[in-house]
Amino acid sequence: MAAIKTVGVIGSGQMGNGIAHVAALAGFNVVLYDVSADRLKSAMATINGNLTRQVAKKTITEDAHKKALTRITSSDSLDGLAACDLVIETAVEKEEIKRKIFHDLCAVLKPEAIIASNTSSISITRLAATTDRPEKFIGIHFMNPVPVMELAELIRGIATDDATFDAAREFVTAMGKQIAVSEDFPAFIVNRILLPMINEAIYTLYEGVGNVEAIDAAMKLGAHHPMGPLELADFIGLDTCLSIMQVLHEGLADSKYRPCPLLVKYVEAGWLGRKSQRGFYDYRGDKPVPTR
Ligand code: 3HC
Repeated sequence: MAAIKTVGVIGSGQMGNGIAHVAALAGFNVVLYDVSADRLKSAMATINGNLTRQVAKKTITEDAHKKALTRITSSDSLDGLAACDLVIETAVEKEEIKRKIFHDLCAVLKPEAIIASNTSSISITRLAATTDRPEKFIGIHFMNPVPVMELAELIRGIATDDATFDAAREFVTAMGKQIAVSEDFPAFIVNRILLPMINEAIYTLYEGVGNVEAIDAAMKLGAHHPMGPLELADFIGLDTCLSIMQVLHEGLADSKYRPCPLLVKYVEAGWLGRKSQRGFYDYRGDKPVPTR
């Protein structure tokens, strides 16, 4: 299989812009796709801001910053991805949306190109089956924030061939990430363990065992987690947390994965965490204030 040189990233949100940032720093040409020019503009500003912070902290040089930016182009049409050797999809955790993207993507992509999904939980085998190339389809699951976290999970679908797996492994290694290989089970490894912990923290709040501050302090100071579970839920996005719990609940058919009703209520209220300015904390003031 030809080496990967040009990488497409579908979706310019927190995962997509992070992947574009790290891939460009690692020397890949990147085409960042999103449906609106405004979103792309804001993603490019985020990438530039995060690169500037890395220069200020001397983790990269000014030259690396400039070169990375020149390697990223943006496109609000899927046609812009036609020349890519690998395309990574980072759309929302809604299977029907991902299916539609893959359908449209296959029509423009060259036949030898690899398609990867950054899905947090959905079956790679099932997503692969919606494309014209299940043997060239793989799960590459990055962690947020992508420029900081050291890991990516690699997940083969039932049809993924060895050449695709090897090319994805090489690409992720070139991005400076360690790899954990996961079987294609609901939510893979990281989210299978992390999300039930977060869901349990929400039950702890729901049942009145502790308030937001106490629960987060307990896990930060008592278990040395870098963020408390409720702060982390807001960081991931409460809609994403709920989608992952639903995939675990449906996929493993075990009541221990039942999404906490309070999580459902927050999502129904549109309180999705940091991205909507309100979740378990209210982010609209100078500093986050617990909402319970
Ligand atoms: N982009 C780029 N760099 C960032 C960043 C971002 N969004 N946020 C923080 N950083 C960098 C900072 O520049 C800093 O760099 P330095 O080490 O070179 O100085 C470093 O990260 C630490 O940042 P801060 O000092 O500002 O803040 P903290 O020390 O509080 O660390 C954190 C921030 C790295 C986010 C830390 O709180 C953490 O590790 N939290 C847990 C994150 C986590 O669990 N992620 C996984 C979520 S699960 C997931 O992604 C899977 C998905 O499918 C749901």
